[in-house]
Amino acid sequence: MSYKIESRNLNLWYGSTHALKGVTLGIPESTITALIGPSGCGKSTFIRCLNRMNDLIDIVRIEGEVLYDNKNIYDKDVDVVELRKRIGMVFQKPNPFPMSIFDNIAYGPRIHGMSNVDKIVERSLNDAALWEEVSDRLDSPAMGLSGGQQQRLCIARTLAMRPEVILFDEPCSALDPISTSKIEGLMDELRSEYTQIIVTHNMQQAARVSEYTAFFLLGEMLEVGRTKEIFENPREKSTEDYITGRFG
Ligand SMILES: Nc1ncnc2c1ncn2[C@@H]1O[C@H](COP(=O)(O)OP(=O)(O)OP(=O)(O)O)[C@@H](O)[C@H]1O
Ligand SMILES: [Mg+2]
Repeated sequence: MSYKIESRNLNLWYGSTHALKGVTLGIPESTITALIGPSGCGKSTFIRCLNRMNDLIDIVRIEGEVLYDNKNIYDKDVDVVELRKRIGMVFQKPNPFPMSIFDNIAYGPRIHGMSNVDKIVERSLNDAALWEEVSDRLDSPAMGLSGGQQQRLCIARTLAMRPEVILFDEPCSALDPISTSKIEGLMDELRSEYTQIIVTHNMQQAARVSEYTAFFLLGEMLEVGRTKEIFENPREKSTEDYITGRFG
């Protein structure tokens, strides 16, 4: 199978803490892959490796490769700003900038000198299923939106950069069930156009949205497969124990 993005024998240390241990994991294009596993097993660390967000932490040391369109993103000549534009990220806690709704979305496109910013803003808000709720108050502060709206705004902000891959780190854990189901619906809509990776502690969510699931434990990627297989017939006992709620 050919992958959109793929780690090969990826190791990461925070100082002397060995947080990722030889992780080899391929993410197929235009699919949703869920990453699950107990707290502290390295899920966030792993997705932050995929757009080099860990570069920002100075005690981090990384060995191994991350191939994106068959090129190692850790090669010296890689433009990290461009990389993060193509591989966007949405965090657990919605983090709108302290500016208007419009400016939140327009910020990235303006910095990158993209034209038709008005159109980009409208399209991104539409794609993030937020346009109808905010089109009459684009100049209002983004901080005035509800948590669920803020999260969709953050997704719109990511979409505005026309990424190919979107990394979601527990995007719904601060949201109520209705907002959660909107985000899941949105991910479903984006399925064919984007490669999406979602870290989640919610097993039902993983089962609902993803085609593939990878189970992490203590820094290792223990098992990956079709979500249905992982949930119904896991190979590893620890995967089964985790999924059935026996630990984690
Ligand atoms: N900035 C950091 N500095 C030092 N150690 C860190 C840092 N970030 C994470 N770690 C350590 O790396 C390991 C993996 O953490 P990570 O945040 O990736 O786990 P996680 O699977 O995302 O957990 P959770 O489900 O709680 O979000 C943990 O032992 C954690 O303490
Ligand atoms: Mg995490």
